[in-house]
Amino acid sequence: MKIKYNYQFFSKFITFEGIDGSGKSTHIKYVIELLKKFNINVIFTREPGGTPLGEVLRNLLLNKLMHPETETLLMFAARREHISRVIKPALKKGICVISDRFTDSSFAYQGGGRRILRNKIKILEKWVHPNIKPDLTLLFDLPLEVAKNRLNIIKSLDKFESKKNDFFHSVRMEYLRLAKKFPMRFRIINSNESIINIENQLQKFLLYFLRENNIQ
Ligand code: TMP
Repeated sequence: MKIKYNYQFFSKFITFEGIDGSGKSTHIKYVIELLKKFNINVIFTREPGGTPLGEVLRNLLLNKLMHPETETLLMFAARREHISRVIKPALKKGICVISDRFTDSSFAYQGGGRRILRNKIKILEKWVHPNIKPDLTLLFDLPLEVAKNRLNIIKSLDKFESKKNDFFHSVRMEYLRLAKKFPMRFRIINSNESIINIENQLQKFLLYFLRENNIQ
């Protein structure tokens, strides 16, 4: 029997990236609602995490001190699980996957922040997901001081969030380098703006992305 979907087949992988306190998580709901208006079936997931084992690893990664290489390997171990249990099956069914962070975070945090050699991360990327790349990456960018202030107001900080400014400066610089290197995939959102202005930027980029992919 042929399965009939009443939503559009939209097998796209969209990732949200940015330094802690960049406000990316606040805006994911807006993007999901916008895609749903076009009858697109969407699942939301996150890294590290997204699977039962991945969430256990997340808890360790965010709370336990460990060698930077152990941290990098665990990020990719969680990702391996995430890809085979969540991302690939959804894309295969024509479901759009929205992930709060993916491998760009490893380049930015472990590469930029922890100074793990980029080539080592590239080897893991090639090993763990040679064929999966985000179709669109929304990078939420803003000055460090603004991000830090936001974090301090909102909550108690985890292992990454409590790092010093020079760590986040390197993370941000690595993100901006990636955005420059992959201009077709990255869209930079100026996140030092009001919610409505950020939503307007998101809407513009998403409508363009949908049009490019023959939706609308
Ligand atoms: P979140 O709080 O935005 O969900 O992110 C969890 C933290 O994990 C965040 O500080 C960034 C960090 N992280 C890495 O260091 N490397 C990675 O590959 C991923 C996915 C996240």
